[in-house]
Amino acid sequence: MNRMMVIGTGSALPARVLSNEDLEKMVDTSDEWITTRTGIKNRRIARLGEETSMLAASAARNALAMARLSATDLDMIIVGTITSDMGMPSCACLVQKELGATNAFAFDINAACSGFVYSLDLADKYVKADPGLKILVIGAETLSTRTKWDDRNTCVLFGDGAGACIVTGAAGNQGLLASKLFSDGSLYKLLYMDSAPSMNKELFRTENDGSYIKMAGKDVFKYAVRCMEGAVMTVLEREQVSIQDIALVIPHQANIRILKSLAERLGVADEKIYINLHKYGNTSAASIPIALDEANREGRINPGDFILLCAFGGGFTWGAVLFRW
Ligand code: ACO
Repeated sequence: MNRMMVIGTGSALPARVLSNEDLEKMVDTSDEWITTRTGIKNRRIARLGEETSMLAASAARNALAMARLSATDLDMIIVGTITSDMGMPSCACLVQKELGATNAFAFDINAACSGFVYSLDLADKYVKADPGLKILVIGAETLSTRTKWDDRNTCVLFGDGAGACIVTGAAGNQGLLASKLFSDGSLYKLLYMDSAPSMNKELFRTENDGSYIKMAGKDVFKYAVRCMEGAVMTVLEREQVSIQDIALVIPHQANIRILKSLAERLGVADEKIYINLHKYGNTSAASIPIALDEANREGRINPGDFILLCAFGGGFTWGAVLFRW
């Protein structure tokens, strides 16, 4: 059977670093509070004019180089993002232009922090239908543009960045084994960003105070842990793979306490959970592909390894993907 396998990974982060000490000068917070509650030390912040599509294209170039492909080899580009440069066109079309990927069609997926996992699942369906396709899958965000910088409840959490991978069909037993996605729109008010100008604003009059991320932190925490655990167990059961056989879990990098709770509930040793959120904060759809690229380049992923990705985000959306690398 033809499976979808990853043949190249890449990532790109803005050069500018915003530390917890920098935030202490901006809002009433402390390095100690941020570190113990979130695990975050630094985050990267895009400079003015450094758009999501530019970070996405840089990550894509690194992934193309690893895959030894050129942009014109690509058939399709999917970008998971909630911070596209513009409402129209899609971020993916801007990436296509930037790369000169003239043979690819391109579109975005809006699934918040689950955007990369959703995009991978979709790419898998295309590859199953046409194994020769070469697809660029990206998660990219500039959440700093949608952060209320005087709200200490949220401004300490987020960062900017992009990660990418190139996927195609492969014979044999390697590749994506199982994926499962979920959504629950009835809970959207626990985590949302009001930025849809065509919405009937009358409905939201009292709470419409700008296009910033709004969040009920404690509720998000609770759902994130439970939902990711459920998604992971679903794909493992489907493939009859034990959690003990997993070489590395690469979860959405939201918060260290969410990741530790998840590890505990799954019964996974801490060292099997990949963590880089101390460096970059929560980069939404970009967090998994950035972590995947770092783990790949650090030699943490080897051929034949079972690798699990899991995500949770606004919508709510969540899901998990199981690979044999
Ligand atoms: N610095 C100092 N104090 C703060 C800060 C801050 N940055 N932020 C909040 N506080 C204060 C609050 O005002 C509150 O003070 P009060 O008791 O006087 O009212 C106190 O700290 C405790 O606030 P809580 O909200 O109870 O803090 P909690 O322990 O729940 O931690 C946090 C907050 C980190 C947001 C937590 O709820 C969490 O991790 N939630 C998960 C949300 C998340 O990760 N969201 C990311 C987006 S969603 C996703 O990616 C899955």
